[in-house]
Amino acid sequence: MTGGSGRLGRSVVRALTDDGHEVISVDRRPLEGLGVEQRDVDLTDADATSRAFLDLRPDAVIHLAAIAVPFSAPEPVILNTNVSMVWNVLSAAVEAGATQVLAASSPTVIGYGAPTGWRPQYLPIDENHPVAPWNAYALSKQVIEAAVRTAVARDGDSVTFGVFRPCFVISPEEWRGAPTQQGHTVVERLDNPDYAAVSLFNYVDARDAGDFVTTWLKRASDAPNGSVFFVGAADALARESLQNLVPSYLPGTEHLAEALAGSAPAFSSAKAELLLGWTPKHDWRSELDAARTATETAPS
Ligand SMILES: NC(=O)c1ccc[n+]([C@@H]2O[C@H](COP(=O)([O-])OP(=O)(O)OC[C@H]3O[C@@H](n4cnc5c(N)ncnc54)[C@H](O)[C@@H]3O)[C@@H](O)[C@H]2O)c1
Repeated sequence: MTGGSGRLGRSVVRALTDDGHEVISVDRRPLEGLGVEQRDVDLTDADATSRAFLDLRPDAVIHLAAIAVPFSAPEPVILNTNVSMVWNVLSAAVEAGATQVLAASSPTVIGYGAPTGWRPQYLPIDENHPVAPWNAYALSKQVIEAAVRTAVARDGDSVTFGVFRPCFVISPEEWRGAPTQQGHTVVERLDNPDYAAVSLFNYVDARDAGDFVTTWLKRASDAPNGSVFFVGAADALARESLQNLVPSYLPGTEHLAEALAGSAPAFSSAKAELLLGWTPKHDWRSELDAARTATETAPS
């Protein structure tokens, strides 16, 4: 896999090793404490990537490495880095004989948060919803999805490809109070809906995202080659129903949001359930309850 040292990457490493896979992470950042081999390779370097993969001869490649936060680097750097990496990794994986390749995209491809205004065409959003990226990160993810379609057209007779769009990833430490990717704690995100509103309150537990990867490896051939999957929790990261919250941030969506009664999320993972049998197992209410109980019962 690539990007095993990352926020999501570490949970994917754990899920893969727990499921009995021999895992090697290719990443520039060291991977400590998980007991798997790490190769330090700059994946924007096509020759170095090819050499590393030919040496490793992986059966399957999970491609997570990316500049993973919008606006965390200059826009051209994000676009060029993420696009060159996916091209290099897909090519090197096929050249080295891998028979399964899964790449990480993102729900941001949908286009929420665009400064010129954005409205969903329908809710909940699924994989058929049109994409409309408005920044380099989201555009790079759209290109990653297109690169996978290109690879299917070229190598799909011998290799099974897939794409997943993990929602906002929350790791076990973050349930216990560590800052999330955007800097706020989970409880702060819940207390102030402004923080999660832009991404329509989407989230997924990191272990569930890891479980999606192991499930995909077992079941990918049950889905059309190159299938794209949203991977999100079964509920929204909000204390109030999105039926009310979404229209308060996106006026004019009252009618569409009627489909989001109760705790329903704005992004549907029904395709992953239908084609792969994957369902999320963790939700914020039980995770925060468990974290609170652990704190209360910890010896002082
Ligand atoms: N974390 C989320 O909430 C989230 C949500 C949607 C999609 N994603 C996607 O999932 C993937 C993993 O996300 P993450 O949160 O673990 O990101 P992260 O930033 O924590 O980790 C990314 C890893 O990629 C590595 N990397 C970057 N450039 C590299 C290069 N040139 N060569 C080799 N390695 C390089 C980094 O060293 C890092 O370890 C990314 O593709 C991201 O866009 C993440």
